[in-house]
Amino acid sequence: MKAINNMVKCTLLSLSIVAVVCWGSQDISSSKQKQSSLEALNAFFPSKLWKDDNGLHINAHGGGVLHHKGKYYWFGEHKVAGKAGNKAHVGVHVYSSENLVNWQDEGIALKVSDDPKSDIIKGSIIERPKVLFNEETGKFVMWFHLELKGQGYKAARTGVAIADSPMGPYRFLKSVRPNAKRLPLNITETEKQVFEQIQQGIEVPKQIKANIKGYYSLSILARDYEGGQMARDMTLFKDKDGKAYQLYASEENQTLHISLLTNDYLSHSGKFIRMYSGGQDEAPAIAYHAGQYHLLTSGLTGWRPNPAKQYNAKHIFGPWKKLNNPTQGVNPDNGFGPEKTFGGQSTFLLERQDKPGSFIAMFDMWRPKNAIDGRYIWLPVEFVDGGMRITWQDSWQPIDF
Ligand code: GAL
Repeated sequence: MKAINNMVKCTLLSLSIVAVVCWGSQDISSSKQKQSSLEALNAFFPSKLWKDDNGLHINAHGGGVLHHKGKYYWFGEHKVAGKAGNKAHVGVHVYSSENLVNWQDEGIALKVSDDPKSDIIKGSIIERPKVLFNEETGKFVMWFHLELKGQGYKAARTGVAIADSPMGPYRFLKSVRPNAKRLPLNITETEKQVFEQIQQGIEVPKQIKANIKGYYSLSILARDYEGGQMARDMTLFKDKDGKAYQLYASEENQTLHISLLTNDYLSHSGKFIRMYSGGQDEAPAIAYHAGQYHLLTSGLTGWRPNPAKQYNAKHIFGPWKKLNNPTQGVNPDNGFGPEKTFGGQSTFLLERQDKPGSFIAMFDMWRPKNAIDGRYIWLPVEFVDGGMRITWQDSWQPIDF
């Protein structure tokens, strides 16, 4: 009897061990399944499909990355399929990662609204969202380019939202045209005289117009002085001293503004510069490296790629110096080299936390006919002769750069 009892006990024990093992292995295998799509990614594959932990192509276009407490958070435009995806139907998507290669879907950080009175109603345009953490307030602050529903790209506004945790949910606060009734800090005496003449409706002599670099752009600055400046493609930058800046394409995309935000990062301080008058820069991305600020931009051809541009400066408020096109090499998928930025457009310069001083240049390959299929090009940045150099790689591992 004792022997039988022992046998039963033994069988029960081994069954439960098997059960535990099986249950355990099932758990492992399902996480392995998730992992397997991740395991394939020990490297970056620019311009290819890039799968998240669910096996879905990452949906965070025109994005930016925040590093907070050992994790990276990638925020970007959530696109839907087809042309409809060029408008905001869902909101701003967020992903998290510890190694920059494998990303976990964390859902929608900022949702579009159903309220017709809201600036961020479904069907508006929300582009290029970026997030900073404010040490003083303990809040996460998101800014983005906003176009009001039904107005195309006419509104040229920027929106701000706030959250208590990096992944949100973010609460929309307001949208603005920045720096109303403020003059740029770097306006020259001649520009100021002309600016005043334009404002007073005085016809500016042809000769003076011809001598002012970016006259048309200056006339838009004057036009928008009362109501606030236009703000389209944008990025954010937090400086070493904790001050934050927003960079945005202004003056009908003719001139990029660099604007200091208030200490809480929720408004524009009124202090701003025009980065390069009439330079026609958009898609700004900025980095600070070895005593210099580096700025990456594109020209103005909408969704179609054009040559990347770069500038550097010792102070964020300039003067900024234009350097050569930083890109080199060819993307074999489309045959595009530096004349078309590999088929991409800049969106962010990301500093690696495992290698401070090392940056990744992030670009979007837009697919406006099927927006959700837009691809990403992430490439390492080298600093050479005071400027950036970004060389095409079919694939690359963080360890090698
Ligand atoms: C691009 C811009 C994108 C989007 C697009 C619309 O130049 O960088 O963010 O606004 O134009 O045509």
